[in-house]
Amino acid sequence: MNAPELEVHLDADDLARSLRADVINGLTAEKKTLPPKWFYDARGSELFERITELPEYYPTRAERQILTDRATEIAAVTRATALLELGSGYSTKTRLLLDALTAAGTLRTFAPMDVSPTALTAAASRITADYPGLAVHNIVGDLTRHLKHLPTGGDRLVAFLGGTIGNLVPAERAAFLADVRAVLEPGEHLLLGTDLVKSPSVVVPAYDDAQGVTAEFNRNVLRVLNASLGADFDLDGFAHVALWDAEREWIEMRLRARWPMRATIPGVGLVVDFAAGEEVRTEVSAKFRREGVERELAEAGFALDRWWTDRDGLFAVSLARAVQED
Ligand code: AVJ
Repeated sequence: MNAPELEVHLDADDLARSLRADVINGLTAEKKTLPPKWFYDARGSELFERITELPEYYPTRAERQILTDRATEIAAVTRATALLELGSGYSTKTRLLLDALTAAGTLRTFAPMDVSPTALTAAASRITADYPGLAVHNIVGDLTRHLKHLPTGGDRLVAFLGGTIGNLVPAERAAFLADVRAVLEPGEHLLLGTDLVKSPSVVVPAYDDAQGVTAEFNRNVLRVLNASLGADFDLDGFAHVALWDAEREWIEMRLRARWPMRATIPGVGLVVDFAAGEEVRTEVSAKFRREGVERELAEAGFALDRWWTDRDGLFAVSLARAVQED
């Protein structure tokens, strides 16, 4: 009766087209880059799940602690009738919010949006079974392009957790937050997870763990290129690098060519040469301070209603309210 709906705004052709564009742009640039969204095929999503369980990777545990402590308050403040979750993946932490909003008696709709239909449908069938009466509305889409397809009506709470906003550079964050604000009515809410600035001796190991899971995750982007574009990257030829940029307060992951290499990428008709030591930037993961989060939210038309951190001050969850623009 409440079978989950799947609404697709991003089909396989779309995805393939944007992968090709990103590879052409990123690997022909003077400074080579690949966007982090291409880490997450089935294997990459699984590697990320393993990262979240590593002793060095604190963000997931810290955010879960905050949500465990604050879910009831989030439900009381927002009285949300719909939870719209961006980049939801397997939706594990989401259950804390679903439980609290169900207990408060306001929630009617859950709409997770993700680029991966496999992650969405796997999570959705379990959520549908566990929350009878909840309308589950799955949206396959890209959070930088398809926010306008989020359901309308009621009192909505948009959740963007995990610190994934840190994958965007400042100009992209401003555009993204403005887009979120544009789909909301004044008084509706945004719940935002941000990793916090802290000593590099804590941040760097979180992105360069002793077991090498993050290194495998990083190299997985080359596997994705090999599988979907017929490329011939030699994964053993690339070293994992995690670097703290103290000025911009972000972590960068890079892949560094151990020796001179040539990769042929038939899917885009490219031959790419790498000098020994040449790097490809594969991710930035920005870390935040309260003042910065508050300012970026304000610039997008949000007021910061609540700011919560875990007991060790590693991670923050912000509850922001869309304000009337004049
Ligand atoms: C899923 C984007 C929040 O930036 O910490 C984990 C991805 N990269 N280890 C992050 C990631 C390396 C993660 N986010």
